[in-house]
Amino acid sequence: MKVSIIGAGNVGATCADAIAFRSIASEVVLLDIRENFAEGKALDMMQTATLNGFETRVTGSTNDYSKTANSHVVVITSGVPRKPGMTREELIGINAGIVKGVTENVLKHSPNAVVVIVANPMDTMTYLALKESKLPKHRIIGMGGILDSARFKCYLSLALNASANDLEGMVIGGHGDTTMIPLTRLASYKGVPVSQFLAADALKKVAADTMVGGATLTAMLGTSAWYAPGAAVASLVDSILNDQKKLFSCCVALDGEYGQKDICLGVPVTIGKNGWEKIVDVKLNDEEKAAFAKSADAVRNMNSVLSAAV
Ligand code: APR
Repeated sequence: MKVSIIGAGNVGATCADAIAFRSIASEVVLLDIRENFAEGKALDMMQTATLNGFETRVTGSTNDYSKTANSHVVVITSGVPRKPGMTREELIGINAGIVKGVTENVLKHSPNAVVVIVANPMDTMTYLALKESKLPKHRIIGMGGILDSARFKCYLSLALNASANDLEGMVIGGHGDTTMIPLTRLASYKGVPVSQFLAADALKKVAADTMVGGATLTAMLGTSAWYAPGAAVASLVDSILNDQKKLFSCCVALDGEYGQKDICLGVPVTIGKNGWEKIVDVKLNDEEKAAFAKSADAVRNMNSVLSAAV
């Protein structure tokens, strides 16, 4: 199984490392526009093979898309990350051009690949890739909700002083500081609603911390995060390549589901070998429905500037 990752920067390289470390794919190709950069990252990773005990072959390429040919999954991380004080939405002008060009190039060599979009603003970049590529909708998946859900479970575990692995929780809606919706009502600690253990104020704080989870790190690091984004992509790729049918919150094209059309937004979907398979209809309450509609409005607004950006 072959995975190509476009952009060998912080997120792309961490994603390749996680895929190799967990032996998710037999082959990973890292591609970057920077001369020798992806080659260097790939070689560094290959030198960990005997230390970490993996067999995945990681190679790098400077913009030679023929090396990515016949990939089962292509992950697009190429694009600029945000800097402190920036929103993900502010990246649209630069990243839209990059994502458009890269998507065209990868599909020339891997016409049957499932395409995973990571570059921000992710919901809009996913919509752009879907429209430009004209691929069947099931083969375009935006990665944001898996990361936001992992952050949600992390903050829940800190608030509860419990293992994050004993927690279930999902974040739907847009992948933006103000557009994501941590579903606190449905989060559970080993199946028991977390509201039995956390007061409303504490739960509100968990949701607020989750929403600015990325911005908090950007302020600390001077650029956006990579460990959790890379690991989140690896989990998504694992579910595709190994047909695991895992239920993740992913950004996919909606056609009436959750009351929305002609938009890509984060909803719970099962992920298997053909991409996303089934949207799971979670019964939202009125407050959650209103938040989802508001999130869709904000993302639709962002999508409307795409024609000027590419
Ligand atoms: N083709 C290939 N690679 C490109 C291109 C291109 N057209 N344009 C940029 N790149 C590469 C850069 O050379 C760089 O190595 O993409 C890489 C991006 O890496 P970083 O700058 O380290 O950014 P990173 O933190 O990985 O974030 C990438 O993911 O999470 C999102 O918001 C984040 O949009 C950003 C993306």
